[in-house]
Amino acid sequence: MKNKETVFVCSNCGNEFGKWAGQCSGCGEWNSLKEVKSFSSSSSLSSKRKRVLGEKLEVRNLGKMDNENLLKPVNNNSVFSTTIGEFDRVLGKGIVQGSAVLFAGEPGIGKSTLLTQLIGKIGGLYVAGEESAEQIGLRVKRLGLNANNFDVLGTNSIDELEEFLDRTQKLYKIAVVDSIQVMNCENATGVIGSVSQIKESTFRLIQMAKKKGMAIFIVGHVTKDGDIAGPKLLEHMVDTVLYFEGEKNGDLRILRTSKNRFGPTDEVGVFKMEEKGLREIKSEEINLIENGENKIGSAVTVVMEGTRPMILEIQALVVESFAPMPKRIFSGIDYNRGQLMIAIAQKSLGVPLYKYDVFLSVTGGVKIEETAADLAVLVAIWSSYKSTPTPSFDKEGRKTLPVWVGEVSLLGEVRKVRNLEKRKKEAESLGRKLVEIRNVSELKT
Ligand code: TYD
Ligand code: MG
Repeated sequence: MKNKETVFVCSNCGNEFGKWAGQCSGCGEWNSLKEVKSFSSSSSLSSKRKRVLGEKLEVRNLGKMDNENLLKPVNNNSVFSTTIGEFDRVLGKGIVQGSAVLFAGEPGIGKSTLLTQLIGKIGGLYVAGEESAEQIGLRVKRLGLNANNFDVLGTNSIDELEEFLDRTQKLYKIAVVDSIQVMNCENATGVIGSVSQIKESTFRLIQMAKKKGMAIFIVGHVTKDGDIAGPKLLEHMVDTVLYFEGEKNGDLRILRTSKNRFGPTDEVGVFKMEEKGLREIKSEEINLIENGENKIGSAVTVVMEGTRPMILEIQALVVESFAPMPKRIFSGIDYNRGQLMIAIAQKSLGVPLYKYDVFLSVTGGVKIEETAADLAVLVAIWSSYKSTPTPSFDKEGRKTLPVWVGEVSLLGEVRKVRNLEKRKKEAESLGRKLVEIRNVSELKT
């Protein structure tokens, strides 16, 4: 008979199943189900500890809770600043005492760097699973941080960490665990990096955070295809999930919240990777365009990153194709959205793109997730195809530097987007002007 204490967990989406299958019915991934010990049967809590917890358990009727407490779910005293403005903005107000934060991103994107800078500013415990204390010491020196702020614990063992925290007299406000993929604990099955090890380690870390009133930042590597046990598995367990993103060959990094129990999820922090680590980028600095003449195949747009407008340039290269299937190569632009713009250009502007290769890119290695950039993509394609710069005269015939903002419908209608006023202002602050058209076919005139 099958052992009831095992379940099969998809290493891609984290869905659990009673029996094995070749394909996960949750996310459609093949060969991603791994056998793990069932979570409820894990022996992470001793029976004594369970009794202690049980004694404290009380049921509370929400109707009897006074209004003031309901309005202040998080006690203000228990939130403290990271002292890094962009980081605070993303977290809401700052770090919540006793919270567990998953800090995810592709390898090499700068997770260790930013969290090292965080401890350098406010002090804390660095649990180094990947690097030695010496390597971290070198980085601290290189970044010009205060080495006294760092207590480094070189271990891969959750049990050792727990033992240390029980023993130490020191109260840490934060701890960084770098990374969850190399941590392990004795009461979980599987090798280091397996689903069960990662889940159990995270669960234990969350317990420690609550018990010690210490915020824990859990570093998690994301892989492009996501086929190793990764941060996706842990999202539902932690309080806050941060993603650190950017194109590796560019130096711009964006910190995004994808889940936050204590604050908004639409804010982003912008950083630049430099010689001396990550530097915060102020609103005025994130305009990634060179001012000047309009170029062929180029269109400027304004996208919103959180609540901030950001000016970007989109470039298109449209050349006659000699391949049976014309090439569509995009960087920073969603593939399906780009394909759609090509189809609209063909229908509404009459550009025979079926026999042209189309290359699209965004300056600064930024990924555009907004449909507000549709119009700029179309204008760049049109300009490259016509080999003329984007039209740059306003209604009165005066020469201007145009900015293109608008979502384009299947019929070529240009739709208004949110935060239009903010975008307009941003464009004007750079001496540019938003072009207002109702239909992309107006570009032909
Ligand atoms: P790292 O923080 O180690 O990435 P992660 O922990 O996400 O894997 O950052 C690695 C890259 O950052 C590395 O290629 C070098 C670069 N870097 C700088 O450009 N400047 C710096 O000051 C530091 C510390 C790293
Ligand atoms: Mg690292």
